[in-house]
Amino acid sequence: MAIREIRIAGDEILTKQCKAVPKMTLRTQILIGDMLDTMYEKMGVGLAAPQVGILKRIVVIDVGEGPIIMINPEIIETSGEQTGEEGCLSLPGKCGIVTRPDHVKVHFQNEKMEEVEMEGEGLLARAFCHEIDHLNGEMYMDKTEDGVHDVTYDDLEDDYPDEEDGL
Ligand code: NI
Repeated sequence: MAIREIRIAGDEILTKQCKAVPKMTLRTQILIGDMLDTMYEKMGVGLAAPQVGILKRIVVIDVGEGPIIMINPEIIETSGEQTGEEGCLSLPGKCGIVTRPDHVKVHFQNEKMEEVEMEGEGLLARAFCHEIDHLNGEMYMDKTEDGVHDVTYDDLEDDYPDEEDGL
């Protein structure tokens, strides 16, 4: 396991469509382990493969309830709305206000390539949307109400205490 370099906004790789993962391989297992290590090292709550330079449809998320590994994730249902601060490990020190669905159901394969359906609310729903956007070459900056700003101490202490971390 290893910490991988995180690609920063402006890097062309973050604008590309990622390819589906047809089967699990040792190489992909190592990538997933490295993605988890990298996400925890950088204190993010989510990380998508293109953020470490790999154009594969793989996402890892941990909103404080343990790691979720998603291969080929797809959003199959959304409802409600939440508006709050969002950040990204590929744009360190910045955040912006983004409106997302408050309830999101996803379908994906786990690390054993078993089919899984999972529902998330609040921060987890936000993380599902943010990370799956990465797989389609999209970043949250383009979805903000009024652009991004520097993360300040106030942001970390305000109404969205769980959302200070990068996705
Ligand atoms: Ni991100």
